[in-house]
Amino acid sequence: MASELDQDPWWKRTTVYQIYPRSFCDSDGDGIGDLEGIISKLDYLDDLGVETLWLSPPYKSPQKDFGYDISDYRDIAPEYGSLATMDKLIEEVHDREMKIVLDMVLNHTSDQHPWFIESKSSKYNDRRDWYIWRDGKKPGGKKPPTNWNAVTSGNGWHYDPATDQWFWSQFLAIQPDLNYRNPEVKKEMLDVCRFWLDKGVDGFRLDMISSIYEDVQFRDNPSTWRLLPSKTENAMLFQKPLHTLDHPDTLAFMQELRSVLDEYQPARFMVGEVSGPLPVLKNYLGDKAEGLNLVFIFQALGLKLESGRVRRFLKDVDETFPDPFMPTLVFSNHDRMRRISRLGGSIEKAKLNVALQLTARGVPFIYQGEEIGMEQHKLPLKDTLDVTPKKFIKPPAGYGRVPVWLAQGINNIARAVIGESINRDECRTPMQWDTTPNAGFCPPGVKPWLPVTPSYEERNVAVESTQPDSLLSCYQRFLHAREVSPALNSGTFELLDPGNAKQLVMYARRAPTEEGLQETITILNFSDKPAKVLNMLDDARVLVSTRASYEPLRGNLILLAPWEGIVVSK
Ligand code: GLC
Ligand code: MG
Repeated sequence: MASELDQDPWWKRTTVYQIYPRSFCDSDGDGIGDLEGIISKLDYLDDLGVETLWLSPPYKSPQKDFGYDISDYRDIAPEYGSLATMDKLIEEVHDREMKIVLDMVLNHTSDQHPWFIESKSSKYNDRRDWYIWRDGKKPGGKKPPTNWNAVTSGNGWHYDPATDQWFWSQFLAIQPDLNYRNPEVKKEMLDVCRFWLDKGVDGFRLDMISSIYEDVQFRDNPSTWRLLPSKTENAMLFQKPLHTLDHPDTLAFMQELRSVLDEYQPARFMVGEVSGPLPVLKNYLGDKAEGLNLVFIFQALGLKLESGRVRRFLKDVDETFPDPFMPTLVFSNHDRMRRISRLGGSIEKAKLNVALQLTARGVPFIYQGEEIGMEQHKLPLKDTLDVTPKKFIKPPAGYGRVPVWLAQGINNIARAVIGESINRDECRTPMQWDTTPNAGFCPPGVKPWLPVTPSYEERNVAVESTQPDSLLSCYQRFLHAREVSPALNSGTFELLDPGNAKQLVMYARRAPTEEGLQETITILNFSDKPAKVLNMLDDARVLVSTRASYEPLRGNLILLAPWEGIVVSK
């Protein structure tokens, strides 16, 4: 009989580790990571203490956007392995009592997908209506059908001279949007999800899920003076994406997806990639938690480690996502600046970030390499392999070309001002396993698909796993503490008032256990100075700290080193 104590589904308590297959581990020496490589590192991930693996898209793809441009949803890219290797991976993950979720790109396919090739071939092709085709604006039809901006900026319609119509792409021209108003498309894509669920995957990370539906009447988006979203409303580049993002039909579709997942036992889950203010994100979960299980909260990506900001963030998130909802804690991914590079390269601050990510309320998502402090590798924009900056520097016909020096300048300003690079190669460099040439990612003498980040000689798994005070050991301690602590992985959350010690963030978490209520207090010191706090728990002990050897509790005082994060427990 299920007791009152284990009612939370596993996915609410889990910790997720994102694998970018191309850059994780190359088993066959072609300079590109693969599924066998992932299998060879499962014991490492198990020891680290992460519970769920999320794989960026492993499917067949021309790899222009490294898998986010799929040409066969039911097969694996040959450079990564085969369906049989994927079956083996799923089995090996489950053998270790871990879970595996796959990235699923429902919004668009590759322009090389046979469906799009057919669709493009003629106005009268049976698959024409699988994508979104329109005549240009009258008179003449030589202007895009609407003013809709793509999320990568610029009008998202692309002209096809052969059939004299335009197709819609929310991302890039190589990724045409599927038309979900065609019931055949919807059915096929839900069947694709079932295909993978039948294979035993534990769920999906849903790519660009806020772009599924657009306005039926193809009305123009309203303009706004806003460059970025407000606290309550989405906006981008002076346009309100009223008819292109967060459409009511998209929100309704989340429930359809959920009912497909709910056909399966044991429970599966979905996490959606959605951008926007917190109330917009929350809509994806449904009023009664009948939509997506989780949604990324990207607000944390750029969160400055200042006590006031962190407190406000935690408060806003907890209030927007009260039980039965669960927030997420995401500090990096394969699209965005490496977290440690935003923290000025400081290992101490990165450790404090670990304490925050693994003890606050929410499902943590850790991007490969974050656990060893992998840095952003600044690379020249002119050599980029990433397809998005290429849009600006080597644009397809129809775009104005931006000279490389100007793009580089804009990129440098963006790096300095918002800590973001338009060149996503910089956060996708090979995983750093050891001190050998190529960092153990691929054999010495082989050229990895992206250059290894120079700091790999100090920052790698082999070296850091022997050092109790390394970032890796810190991650491991917190992951293990979280795994066995109901308060930390599923407890309630209460921000505590630090009184005059404004540099501290303190919160309590509480959960029932077989032995009674478990209570933890996390104290995070956002300061270069040590701090002292009164211990508020009777019979407390230190559960875990960012320091390998911390000060034991002295009477009723808790002593913190600069930038230390500590959890005490009753
Ligand atoms: C998402 C992915 C990104 C990809 C894009 C298009 O934002 O995270 O890597 O390029 O969607 O699929
Ligand atoms: Mg769409």
